[in-house]
Amino acid sequence: MKTRFVTIDEKEPQADRIEAAAQIIRDGGLVAFPTETVYGLGGNALDPEASRRIYAAKGRPSDNPLIAHIADFAQLGPLVAEVPEAARILMKTYWPGPMTLIFQKSDLVPKSTTGGLDTVAVRMPSHPVARALIRAAGVPIAAPSANLSGRPSPTRASHVLEDMDGRIDMILDGGEVGIGLESTIIDVTGPEPALLRPGYISEEMIRELFAGMTVDAASIGPVSPDMHPKAPGMKYRHYAPKAQMTIVRGEAAAVQQKICALAGEELRAGKKVGLICTQESRPVYENRLKGIGPGEIGRADSCGAGGEEQALDLVTVGSRRDGASIAHNLYDVLRSFDTAGVDVIYSESFEGGQLGGAIMNRLKKAAGYHILDV
Ligand code: TXA
Ligand code: MG
Repeated sequence: MKTRFVTIDEKEPQADRIEAAAQIIRDGGLVAFPTETVYGLGGNALDPEASRRIYAAKGRPSDNPLIAHIADFAQLGPLVAEVPEAARILMKTYWPGPMTLIFQKSDLVPKSTTGGLDTVAVRMPSHPVARALIRAAGVPIAAPSANLSGRPSPTRASHVLEDMDGRIDMILDGGEVGIGLESTIIDVTGPEPALLRPGYISEEMIRELFAGMTVDAASIGPVSPDMHPKAPGMKYRHYAPKAQMTIVRGEAAAVQQKICALAGEELRAGKKVGLICTQESRPVYENRLKGIGPGEIGRADSCGAGGEEQALDLVTVGSRRDGASIAHNLYDVLRSFDTAGVDVIYSESFEGGQLGGAIMNRLKKAAGYHILDV
């Protein structure tokens, strides 16, 4: 299959390009498009054949359900059996936006879209391209993140191309997405809302509305084989770069000292080391690790992969003063380590702030919960 790569204005999407993409969706094909969280891989949510194609393109296990994306409140009713009061409050507060709600599904939604479940995940994105595409298609669009299963979610069209070239009909390139981490998922089918996946809308923000909210264990810690996470996707090793990553957690100076010791050892052993730092800590690593191992220290920011000859691939993910910058760049950084071909990765820890919970959820999964406390 030849994949068409089409650039599109992220604020005022060109109508003819949207229409071409919408036609593909109506015909049962697949289009990757930007949302405010990550790029999605879209197909008609009501067409079992389209969802089968989505699973095939991603190499995704078919028990891992898809999110149906809508553009207007009128599109919700037909998809769900009922709209609980908690959902009304959440939708009024956070839709359109980076929040997905789990409802009891209606008969209209095929089980091939919901991974065999009687519930359906629904999200109303705020991104103009996503909204225009859903409206033009005239159907809800099922869209998982547009990555191959197991790879970090795509936050740029180039990431989608890396994973999906030749596997889908079209990629709409609307530039880098804003948030960079997937939506917050909340199950509203129980007596109290339950947080299944943290995101830009944090646990604290939802708790302000629902003090009794519960948190699914799979959203905070490792998932053992006997656990059944409510969001089936949480049980897979996700977001993962190829090299083993270790997160070092603790007070800043102690973390930096530990990472320097560990990275120094690997460099002396001839390994290629990936290191995730911040604008604030970068000079510390530059000074202490300079001259260990061959080559210069790589990369001033998160753009592009480090050179082949660089033993230390030191990447600035963002600034401690701006948690959004860390969320925005995290997946690009994880992907770039694969391109750079590093042997091991060390990362600082990024707790705290509105985005700390979501960032650490993804980072810990990427590290396979390999965490050192200092
Ligand atoms: O931000 C996002 O949510 C992005 C963009 C494209 O909208 N989409 C996304 O989709 O992250 P995906 O498929 O990569 O992740 C969907 C998650 C999975 O963990 C899945 O198990 C869970 O949502 N999920 C979907 N339907 C569910 C359901 N009925 N019950 C519980 N969890 C569900
Ligand atoms: Mg995903």
